Amino acid sequence: MDMAQEVFAVPARESALADRFGRQITYLRISVTEHCNFRCSYCSPAEGTPFFARKDHLQVDEYDRLIGVFADLGVRHMRFTGGEPLIHPYLPDLIAAAHQHGIGKISISTNGLLLARKAEQLQQSGVNNLNISLDSLEPEVFARVTRGGNLQEVLHGISVAISAGIPRIKLNVVLMRTENGHNLADLVRYALAQHVDIRFIETMPLGQAGSEAQNAEFLSASEAKMLIEKELGTLYPAFRPTDNGPARLFQFAEHPRSQIGFITPISENFCATCNRVRLTASGRLVFCLGQENGMDLLPLLRGSSRNEEIADEIRDRIWQDKPERHEFVTDPERSSRIFMMRLGG
Ligand code: 5AD
Ligand code: SF4
Repeated sequence: MDMAQEVFAVPARESALADRFGRQITYLRISVTEHCNFRCSYCSPAEGTPFFARKDHLQVDEYDRLIGVFADLGVRHMRFTGGEPLIHPYLPDLIAAAHQHGIGKISISTNGLLLARKAEQLQQSGVNNLNISLDSLEPEVFARVTRGGNLQEVLHGISVAISAGIPRIKLNVVLMRTENGHNLADLVRYALAQHVDIRFIETMPLGQAGSEAQNAEFLSASEAKMLIEKELGTLYPAFRPTDNGPARLFQFAEHPRSQIGFITPISENFCATCNRVRLTASGRLVFCLGQENGMDLLPLLRGSSRNEEIADEIRDRIWQDKPERHEFVTDPERSSRIFMMRLGG
């Protein structure tokens, strides 16, 4: 091979999911509904987002089929998200479907409101990881950020989930300068006391979060880490990081059971190790959190395509179209304004 060929040679394509930037796709995030019982200010407009018509929503058997297709394509981790996934009546069936198709790691992201009622069932269905949003421990702030949420109900849900024995529980905090910047240490103390993990996420300019008011609320992960360390002491890099996702993980020497993570979509791009794509409840496969690139699977599912043909199409499109990175910082105008409510984080 001469030099010119070598320079322009593209990596070999394999049968599993991969893109042109040398990344294997082994993680699928599945939004099971765009509906939510909260309206978090960084996620949703106060009045909610327009909903798809019912007929345009993936049915349980269609999710089941796609879960099988992605399992055959080498996906090994699935996370059910929303909107709020616990309002989906058939969520346990979808979890069972993922198990049947051999998915080894099954996660859920929830706002926690329905956990007190549903945690036991989730534990029995074999959920491995539960992420629960918890942006504040102050009832008024919590109610304002979620636009009406009741903190006590969510805290009760968290303790029921812990007692039910779901293996790994993480709290997700979206960083907001005035809303929770002043008591991040309280949130950490709470996580340490419950022996669960906690992660702080920089607000991404998606949907509502792109507005002026939201931009003023921006708080970087490095500043958040400093604020936490000022009150609680030095955070050390996690001894055995439990996650291969974008979070940078730390812990306190005296609290080995809780990892403190920071996710930096804005201040430090982590797209080079991206291993995921996202499926919306209307069957759109979205290749990047911050860009429009994607494909609609509903016509394939409802047409005459066989599973192998759907798999081939998905493999080709991801290879051609998964962008190298989001452009939240580098090209905000081009960034997707798709609402988080549809993408599930
Ligand atoms: N920026 C960062 N995180 C967000 N989430 C929702 N919207 C945003 C945003 N604009 C988080 C939620 C939840 C997870 C699914 O995504 O808090 O924890
Ligand atoms: Fe609902 Fe989660 Fe969005 Fe809040 S962040 S409105 S809980 S989907």
